[in-house]
This record gives sequence, C-alpha cells and structure tokens, in this order.
Amino acid sequence: MLDYGAGTGLLAETLAAGVGALTLAEPSAGMRGQARAKVADGRLPATTRIWELDLSRDPVPDERFDVVVSVLTLHHIHELDRVLAALATMLVPGGRLCIVDLEEEDGTFHDLESGFDGHHGFARDVLTGLLHAAGLVDVEVDRLDTLVKDDRAYHRFLAVAQRPR
Ligand SMILES: C[S@@+](CC[C@H](N)C(=O)[O-])C[C@H]1O[C@@H](n2cnc3c(N)ncnc32)[C@H](O)[C@@H]1O
Repeated sequence: MLDYGAGTGLLAETLAAGVGALTLAEPSAGMRGQARAKVADGRLPATTRIWELDLSRDPVPDERFDVVVSVLTLHHIHELDRVLAALATMLVPGGRLCIVDLEEEDGTFHDLESGFDGHHGFARDVLTGLLHAAGLVDVEVDRLDTLVKDDRAYHRFLAVAQRPR
C-alpha cells in the first residue's frame, strides 16, 4: 500500500496490522522525520519505507502498488490532473485508489490567515470527472464522516476507483 501525502503516518499506524508492505510518500521533511521516528520506536513496522515524493513535480516512480490511499492531501494540490494520473499509473491493473478528503466547503476549513491556496473541498461530480480523466473506472464517492472544527461541521468523502484490469 502506498499512502500519498502520508504526513506523520497516522493512517499507516492504524492499518499496519491489516495490510502488507507500507510505503509512505510525503514531500515535507518535517512530516517524514516524524514518520521515521515512528518506525524507529516501533509504532510503524520496521519494513515501512518513507519516500520523499511530490508527484506534481517529480517523475512517476517505477514501482506499482495494489492499493494507493490519500487522506486530506488532495485539497492541497494544484496540479490534480498530473498527480491523479501519476497515482493511477502507480497502481497494478485492477488496483484501487482510495481518497478521503473534504466535500465542498465554504473556505473556512483553513484559517484565512494561514496562506492556504488550495481547494475548498470537492464537489462529487468534479472529483468523479477527475478520476475518470485519470483513466480510472468504477468510481464511487460516498460520504464518510463529519469533522467538527471550531464549532463548524465539515463532511468528508471516501472515493474509491479502480485501474482497469
Ligand atoms: C492535512 S495533511 C494530511 C496528512 C495525512 N494524510 C493525515 O491524514 O494525517 C496534508 C499532507 O499533504 C501533504 N502535501 C501537500 N502537498 C502535497 C503534494 N503536492 N503531494 C503530496 N503531498 C502533499 C502535506 O505535506 C501534508 O503532509
């Protein structure tokens, strides 16, 4: 499993016991450092690989994965066409891309002063179109849960799509 935009490896910590080899891809050195510390102290399996990777600028690695996951990362990315096409390429035929991110929101999720210039969540039809444009099929997007931040509710979706066999 590849976790793209893995941050400190929170999802991998949760899933480690249930999946095989884990690769965490993350452009931020600080985040990678925290993930490495978890490998060092056993919170993540010793076999966990931590890659510096930003598919909006880096070439697509040669390796292929059964599952690619990405949690709350997509809304930070401007070059979505390029990144989603790269993630689709990194799946084995029949492999699945699973994305958790925000449904369309009013722009309040990120503090206005934080300098955030990404997406204010995603409309379901827009995301579905992006996943199809990346060459993926059997796209399903469903509401996953609701986060409460500063007394406001933000819905998250889970999108699952497959690379054709
Ligand atoms: C809100 S954090 C989510 C981290 C982790 N997935 C989690 O759920 O804890 C967003 C992450 O996306 C990463 N990120 C930002 N731009 C990215 C890009 N172009 N490619 C990959 N990751 C990116 C950030 O460094 C950050 O770790």
